[in-house]
Amino acid sequence: MWTSPEQEKFRHRVREFAESEIAPFAAWMDRRQEFRMELVGKLNEFGLLGMQVDKAYGGTFTDTLTYIIAVEEISRVCGSTGILVAAHNSLGTYPIYRFGTEEQKRKYLPDITSGGKLAAFGLSEPDAGSDAGGTRTFAAKSGDGYIVNGTKCWITNGSICKTLIFTARTSKERGVKGISSFIIDHNTTGFSVGKKENKLGVRGSDTRFLHFEDMYVPQSDRLGDEGQGFKQFMITLDGGRVSIGAMALGIAQGAYDIASKYAVKRKQFNKPISEFQGVAFKLADMATQLQAARHLVYHAAVLKDQPGIRFTKEAAMAKLYASEIASNITYTAIGILGAEGYTEKYPVERMYRDAKICEIGEGTSEIQRLVISRILIEETNEALKQTGNF
Ligand code: CAA
Repeated sequence: MWTSPEQEKFRHRVREFAESEIAPFAAWMDRRQEFRMELVGKLNEFGLLGMQVDKAYGGTFTDTLTYIIAVEEISRVCGSTGILVAAHNSLGTYPIYRFGTEEQKRKYLPDITSGGKLAAFGLSEPDAGSDAGGTRTFAAKSGDGYIVNGTKCWITNGSICKTLIFTARTSKERGVKGISSFIIDHNTTGFSVGKKENKLGVRGSDTRFLHFEDMYVPQSDRLGDEGQGFKQFMITLDGGRVSIGAMALGIAQGAYDIASKYAVKRKQFNKPISEFQGVAFKLADMATQLQAARHLVYHAAVLKDQPGIRFTKEAAMAKLYASEIASNITYTAIGILGAEGYTEKYPVERMYRDAKICEIGEGTSEIQRLVISRILIEETNEALKQTGNF
């Protein structure tokens, strides 16, 4: 219903690519807690690193739904590669394209859209997680630029990125309006990569602390005006949340595909376990949840491309629902595979661990409910104003 024949052809190509080039390394990356860097070159060759950027800056400028299909198909076989692609495109690259000056786009985009290099997004800090406005990193004005001090954490692609965009406070007084955003290259003096996280899932994904110590950033590398950083990052997260919804959808689809085939082949009591209602109804619920999540994620993706439409609520709904059903579906898939599902023989145990981050990263499920409910209340107040009463 949402996708065109061309988008389905693209899905088929990405699925083949993901199954042949990424899937064979997914368990290796999970065990080693290391991203296989040669895959970055392959993702780049396939055109998956500049999907939200105009061709003039090296991108492929696909519509959001096509991009979302790519994240979904990659995540179907490997959550770590899915989050790398999602964080690179939606968070690290898109804001430079959307808010950057012509000079910034020419300087930073080609390397990360078609040059095989990665980008990262630095918002979270030890004391500013869900409260993103609590940013403490400070950029003090100095001559033609800023001296930046502070620490970021939970940064996807942190040590393997060439380009980083991050937020820092440029004013102590102005609340979220005192936050600005900046772009740096990984070899900027004063920038260093810190501790790598030892995680439950997406263990192949590089998640890092980042440190800024008396780091000079010229004013020409500030993204937009002073004070615009918080809003830019919130707008960016709207798109990022659709991509995390797609990642969750892909992981859940991967687990369902394995569980349904297993249930049809596995015999107990002289018949396939899929013929027991206890298993068949589980498969029915999983497929229904997948379908509902796909509608929410694709709808939000289509809305993102409509000029002048704010899709904050739909993005939050898509991420909230897709990530929660991904946790349920991967958990249920383990149950269907029984003891086999509890081992490394099948990837469902990895998918179960990978799915959980989708309920946390780019805003927890509680934050999505906060975002959705605030907008619902605004909409209800607006409706009351229009009609005057119930
Ligand atoms: N689009 C446009 N503007 C937005 C916006 C959006 N989606 N969300 C907020 N704003 C604007 C508001 O309109 C407001 O502007 P005005 O004052 O001009 O009206 C301003 O921003 C402040 O908004 P709020 O009052 O809503 O701000 P808040 O402090 O209450 O915070 C929040 C809102 C939703 C809780 C926000 O802090 C939030 O999303 N928190 C979660 C952060 C998050 O997702 N972090 C994960 C980062 S991912 C990461 O770091 C790891 C990685 O690599 C993947």
